[in-house]
Amino acid sequence: MPHERFRFKDRAALEQKITDLGLDIPFSDDISILFSHVVLARRVLPNRFAVLPMEGADADPAGRPTELTLRRYKRYSEGGASLIWFEATAVTADGRSNPRQLWINTETRDGFRKLAKETRLAAHRKFGSDHNLLLVLQLTHSGRVAKPEGRPVPVIAQHNPLLDAKQGLSPEHPVISDSALDALQDDFVSAARLAHEAGFDGVDIKACHGYLVSELLAAFTRPDSRYGGSFENRTRFLAETSERIKLAVRGIFVTSRLSVYDALPYPYGFGVDREHPENPDLGEPVRLIKKLRNIDFPVLGLSLGIPAFQSHYGRPYDKPLIGQELPDEHPLVGVSRWLRLTSEIQKAFPTLPVVGAGYSWLRQFFPHVAAAMVERERVSLIGLGRGSIAYPGWVNALAADGILDQRKVCVCCSKCSQMLRAGQPVGCAVHDADTYQVQYRKARKRAKEVRRIEKKTARSARKRSRRKA
Ligand SMILES: Cc1cc2nc3c(=O)[nH]c(=O)nc-3n(C[C@H](O)[C@H](O)[C@H](O)COP(=O)(O)O)c2cc1C
Repeated sequence: MPHERFRFKDRAALEQKITDLGLDIPFSDDISILFSHVVLARRVLPNRFAVLPMEGADADPAGRPTELTLRRYKRYSEGGASLIWFEATAVTADGRSNPRQLWINTETRDGFRKLAKETRLAAHRKFGSDHNLLLVLQLTHSGRVAKPEGRPVPVIAQHNPLLDAKQGLSPEHPVISDSALDALQDDFVSAARLAHEAGFDGVDIKACHGYLVSELLAAFTRPDSRYGGSFENRTRFLAETSERIKLAVRGIFVTSRLSVYDALPYPYGFGVDREHPENPDLGEPVRLIKKLRNIDFPVLGLSLGIPAFQSHYGRPYDKPLIGQELPDEHPLVGVSRWLRLTSEIQKAFPTLPVVGAGYSWLRQFFPHVAAAMVERERVSLIGLGRGSIAYPGWVNALAADGILDQRKVCVCCSKCSQMLRAGQPVGCAVHDADTYQVQYRKARKRAKEVRRIEKKTARSARKRSRRKA
């Protein structure tokens, strides 16, 4: 099923393609269920929509939100979603993915307080003060993709030949010690306390996309460690840290955005069939969620794939990042994988509100799929990522008109991902061009420079090996 760009004129053409591909992507004509209430963390939320966490790379050097950060979140909350899941926010300096990543600490806490307050106020001004809006802050350590000063300083949980080769890491590169992980647990607890003081309702210990906590879940080969090998050990960091936050920080709930399928072969991926890595195996993810459920998680965010390695699993797209090949997979296959895995997790935990994702590629037709998913109890909340960057007012548009403006939807061009990769402020270079076109140009220039350097390095390596031969 080769890759294909989105060229469907109407819903019938899209549905026909889905049938031709033999995929299970349900549609519903009636989308009113998306505006039904849902109870989450003892609050009644007015609709089923969530803005997914998306790094904006627009903090100041200390990690404080800037005016650009405030602008993004005000647009989201005015947009009408009932859950805003704030982006990956570092808990330590060495865990920052770039020098502009948000970083919560005692110096920056008041900046986060302003961010939470203004985000809430923007929604209350627009929808009234009884509009229930839930704010979750995602806490993270970027692990092997950490670039605190702009250069890679990878912190790895275990060696992984596939990712090590891609990053040029030698077998001698140190693996983070157990004692450093113990200390990092303290950092997550402190960050959760600061998030509570800043006014967030919940914190998410980010366990997806191959970042440090996610890599630990798959640390099958981590030697002689309390954090590696067995299921208990690999899930220890997430479970213990969640439990500690629950006990130490009253008044904030704890949750996680969890990758249930890393799409990396055993023994390097979580949620992967050991014989056939192209197939998910949800046995361990389900076991882990049971454990987290006992810690009272009131909601669970799902994700999949490792974007730094293969971004199409988590974000089906039309155009790849500069220098990357198109995947040999139709984006609809990616969408249906998202829906299938979400359904399986929601079915296994019918009373746990699950936030799904992967809808943006469906453009203006996604609400019909989302409604069918909620109707069939395959998911509780619909998260939109790139679609929210492109069209922050999409919930209001749906509420008012019942349809989305096809001129405003995300075109899955990967420009926002390209900006993030370059550490440039992230936004929509297509629909918010006055603010972000210039950032995209810088990101594109940077990507081209990196490609030139990579090609030159590869040429020199080839020459060296020819000379040796
Ligand atoms: C620019 C960008 C930044 C992202 N940052 C985060 C992040 O901070 N945390 C996270 O869990 N996922 C992050 N994601 C993934 C999205 O939350 C989402 O899972 C993904 O884009 C798929 O949903 P979509 O098809 O609606 O875009 C990011 C995605 C993009 C494009």
